[in-house]
Amino acid sequence: MLEQAATHTWIGRPVEELPTPIAVVDLDRLEANIARLAGYAREHGIALWPHAKTHKMPPVARMQLAAGAAGLTVAKVGEAEVFASHELGPLLLHYPVYGPEAWRRLADVASTTGLTVAVDSYEAAEPMAAALGAAGASAEVLVEIDVGLHRTGVAGAAAARDLAQRLDGLAGLDVAGVSCFPGHVRGPAADIERKLADVEAVLAEAVSLFTEAELRCDRVSGGCTPAMRMTHLTPSVNELRAGTYVFLDRTEVAFDAPLTLADCALRVHATVVSTAVPGRAVVDAGSKALSDAPFGGPGGEGRGAVAGHPDVTIPFTNEEHGVCDVSASEATWHVGDRVEIVPNHVCTCVNLQDVICAARAGVVEHVWTVEARGKVR
Ligand SMILES: Cc1ncc(COP(=O)(O)O)c(C=O)c1O
Repeated sequence: MLEQAATHTWIGRPVEELPTPIAVVDLDRLEANIARLAGYAREHGIALWPHAKTHKMPPVARMQLAAGAAGLTVAKVGEAEVFASHELGPLLLHYPVYGPEAWRRLADVASTTGLTVAVDSYEAAEPMAAALGAAGASAEVLVEIDVGLHRTGVAGAAAARDLAQRLDGLAGLDVAGVSCFPGHVRGPAADIERKLADVEAVLAEAVSLFTEAELRCDRVSGGCTPAMRMTHLTPSVNELRAGTYVFLDRTEVAFDAPLTLADCALRVHATVVSTAVPGRAVVDAGSKALSDAPFGGPGGEGRGAVAGHPDVTIPFTNEEHGVCDVSASEATWHVGDRVEIVPNHVCTCVNLQDVICAARAGVVEHVWTVEARGKVR
């Protein structure tokens, strides 16, 4: 409570004066990231449904919708509740929701905002439809197909058609098309192109089988940040659900030239608290501020990138210690020095923050509450 009150005094102050560790979003970079993908989607006639699990904050969702997003994607019912309570939507809940309480809460969400759900089993969809129907609500449904990540989704176009036919008669659900998550599609451009061609073959077959079976299939949802600006290579896809693009992170920009660390909108500002061990500068952002996510990109490791210091690595973190290896650094490191760390994976980093500062030209404009943090149910 005490800190919540104090955060209001941060507005208008230079970010260097903020207590650390603190996650800071640079508004110019954030706006550029939102505009870049909004422009791409507009150019290719693809509807953008940004995945709000990355930012978990209504003000950022509002910026995405103002830039032309057709709706927001969420994973969990708790996230849907947060955005619906701010009248931000329509919403696509892209997760296999299971359990009577979750279905009841989802029906409440569907009573207040347009809702689409992605499903991959009759076992989960049938009682969800019943809960929606009981509340006098309904949702559009997309049948999820596994296109290569092997995480969720039915195996192939015919299985998707078969499930859609079973769902078609259920009150409370309106079959609207198919969905996929091509999360395995990353790497060099040639690899992406090859993998997307395989994805497109499955989706095009699904559209054709749905059409033959007289099932609606005008919505085909896909996309992810690593392949975001190549989504047009899957021409069946008319909805794009990128999430990480909004802030970007060390892993994403390692794959996506010409993006660089300079495009990463969120950094954790930290202070050097110890240089007692030779070759080390220990900062006050450990795994509880950065998250323990490994670097997912090529040719590197460590727990984050220290902006402006390519010769410094973060070989490990403990809960409250970010241990920087400065043995190859040209700088001389002192207790009290400040650094900006680009996290390996921004979504898990955001989920650790209660507030995030939004700054322009180094001055705090807003202190945002991360309202959907921890909403795992
Ligand atoms: C179902 C689904 N759709 C979209 C996304 C967005 O992916 P990205 O953050 O790579 O854009 C995710 C990410 O986890 C996801 O699970």
